[in-house]
Amino acid sequence: MELTLLAGSANRPLAQMIAGALRLDLGRLTINRFPDGELHIEIGESVRGHDVYLIQPTSPPVGEHLLELLLLADACRRAGAAHVSAVVPYLGYARQDRRTTGREPVSARVVADLLQTAGINRVLAVDLHVASLEGFFHIPLEHLTAVPLLAEAARPNVGDNGVVVSPDLGAVKLAESYAARLGLPVAIVHKTRLSGQEVRAERIVGDVRGRRPFVIDDMVSTGGTIEASVNALLAAGCIPEVTVATTHGLLVGTAAQRLSALPIRRLITTDSVQRSAELSFAIEVVSLGPLVGEAIDRLHTGRSVGDLIARQ
Ligand code: R5P
Repeated sequence: MELTLLAGSANRPLAQMIAGALRLDLGRLTINRFPDGELHIEIGESVRGHDVYLIQPTSPPVGEHLLELLLLADACRRAGAAHVSAVVPYLGYARQDRRTTGREPVSARVVADLLQTAGINRVLAVDLHVASLEGFFHIPLEHLTAVPLLAEAARPNVGDNGVVVSPDLGAVKLAESYAARLGLPVAIVHKTRLSGQEVRAERIVGDVRGRRPFVIDDMVSTGGTIEASVNALLAAGCIPEVTVATTHGLLVGTAAQRLSALPIRRLITTDSVQRSAELSFAIEVVSLGPLVGEAIDRLHTGRSVGDLIARQ
């Protein structure tokens, strides 16, 4: 079966990195809009009988990128593709995996249903907000992690005197995973979310005084969580030289200004989403291209992805 890579408009540079890792060209595709704003998609080559991978993180603008992915999948299915995989390194709506007040949708479940209805046979994601999202899918979900890549990139900045900081209770397992790789202790910030932009850090569990903090999270969106955590760490007497690592550096709204005002020495992230924000501190981007490229190669040739994860 022939392998075809098609990239939506959400992150062409990452798609090029993945294609480069596989030594393939991206398939031909045109995406334009009718005057009323409707999307129009046309695949420029045959995909009949092919094993197709659609590279499209559903990053902001989430609705636009999600719809593009759904239309791409439908086009592939109707054009006779044998198998369609969605490569969605960052999956939008993943945070809305349950109801918190009672009159809300479970949006992550709706997104999972839409992907499957559009004809997607498999999803490949990286560091999902919660691993249990897999349960929303009937189709296979391959879940990769960028933690080994980010931990190695952070190692020279963090040193022996570091402490891995989970900025909320939800990221504790992630923090433990970084800490195990780096041989460092873990501290946990107790966070309360006040709104989409505002969070409050109430207390810190663990010893941070005189230590260099390494704050990790699956995503940094408005920067509110990191801001509150860093301020709490400073108040608790940490060394004011902070390293931050996050798989998905969305940096929306005023995130850049917020983070620039903090003693952050380096922000390490991946290219799972494209950013435009300018930051006043060093940002290091580790590409997911080789990892995702190898995962696609293994899936296409029927080899284990679990072995790839175990080898990392
Ligand atoms: C929440 O549980 C997530 O892991 C992140 O901590 C959060 O989504 C980051 O958002 P923001 O940067 O807007 O605080």
